[in-house]
Amino acid sequence: MPNSVTINSKIKKFNKIITVSGDKSISIRWVLFSSLANGVSTAKNLLKSEDVVASLNAIKKLGIKFKFKKNICKIYGKGIDGYSYKKNLVINAQNSGTLGRLILGLIINSPEKIKLVGDKSLSKRDFKRISDPLSKFGAKFELNKNKNLPLIISGSKKLKPINYLEKKGSAQCKTSVIFGAMRTNGTTIIKAKKSRNHTELLCKYLKLPVITKNKKNYDEIRINKVEKIKPLNYEIPSDISSSAFFIVLTALSNNSQMIIKNVNINNSRTGVIHILRKMGVKINFINKKKYKGEKIADIKIKSPNSLKGINCPKNLNSGAIDEFLIIFLVAAKAKGISYFRGLDELNQKESPRLKWGAKILNRMGVKNISTKNSIKIFGNPNFQVNKKIIIKNYLKDHRVFMTSVIAALSFGGKWEIHDKDSIKTSFPNFLKIIKNLKNNV
Ligand code: S3P
Repeated sequence: MPNSVTINSKIKKFNKIITVSGDKSISIRWVLFSSLANGVSTAKNLLKSEDVVASLNAIKKLGIKFKFKKNICKIYGKGIDGYSYKKNLVINAQNSGTLGRLILGLIINSPEKIKLVGDKSLSKRDFKRISDPLSKFGAKFELNKNKNLPLIISGSKKLKPINYLEKKGSAQCKTSVIFGAMRTNGTTIIKAKKSRNHTELLCKYLKLPVITKNKKNYDEIRINKVEKIKPLNYEIPSDISSSAFFIVLTALSNNSQMIIKNVNINNSRTGVIHILRKMGVKINFINKKKYKGEKIADIKIKSPNSLKGINCPKNLNSGAIDEFLIIFLVAAKAKGISYFRGLDELNQKESPRLKWGAKILNRMGVKNISTKNSIKIFGNPNFQVNKKIIIKNYLKDHRVFMTSVIAALSFGGKWEIHDKDSIKTSFPNFLKIIKNLKNNV
């Protein structure tokens, strides 16, 4: 199979320093903020993946130029009202929920109708969660089956501020509304369940009229109309979600050690670290620093002597939402039963990920009981796979592919994992790093 990988042996012990690709959430946000800045913004280490290139192509459709050479990307912003809206515009968000949902907030005042399309996976995902709040500002939407892409947005020049309660812990919903509010006269007030806060930190760094009050269980964000955005020069740190695959590979290996350089460890993203530490994985942050409001560190992981099951507190869910598939593998090797609850949002991702998590475990032979929003995993510290496993037809979800690779290298068996191109959306050099680890270079 040209687009599949075959893995027939476990990884040998390693002691390595690696660097993973740039953070996807920050990369896409950098593109969108810079597209509205007055002048040239420059990014170093922007993630060169399909989701980010789709973001660059989206702003190009709106009349904003960019150059992306080697490790440097430049965006030539024309100011907050610098988008040019041609007739019959079609924006393709491809596989990216973040791009598709965030950009709708920015085009809420378009004088022309704009069509938003995506790939097969994105076209199955919920966009009503975005059209509902953005309609309240005054934009109009026509959605496929009332909730999906393709959709058509008709912007408005008479936008009204809104009050919005974000209950899912979705940073995409929160950010889309912040972007809509940035185009609206008056004060929009959001009360949001905790979720990643890169947008709020960028607003603060750019001194935009966006004020966040952190309360215990939620954040209150007040947004006023933005008149001007200064150019945003940014050195993108590495992605903790991409790092998580290697953190878990080390956690499931014997006598191994790894350092992952320069990773964004924003508190709203470190759920995976808290969960794995509770399960017995030794993880340290070294060389900690602050960068434009974000926290960055090198992550040092040592293989643990033993792993224990976890009754995972629900308040860690949002901060680990992209890492559960890989966390389930640790639960498979832990002593005792692990229980993860309140995971309704997992089935809303690039594939129904809770279902896929259970499917991968079932194929491996790991006992688990799952419902529509929870999973109990019966761990076994001596667990090994001794059979052939084929992973395919998973809507090309990059995280299903990478989780399967880590499972194969950690538990053995003969694996045939299809659609390796899926990694191009978020982590194009994933297999290269694996190859170097295997060859010990
Ligand atoms: C993201 C938010 C999360 C996450 C996604 C990236 C973002 O989605 O799963 O990969 O950059 O805002 P939700 O906001 O839908 O939970």
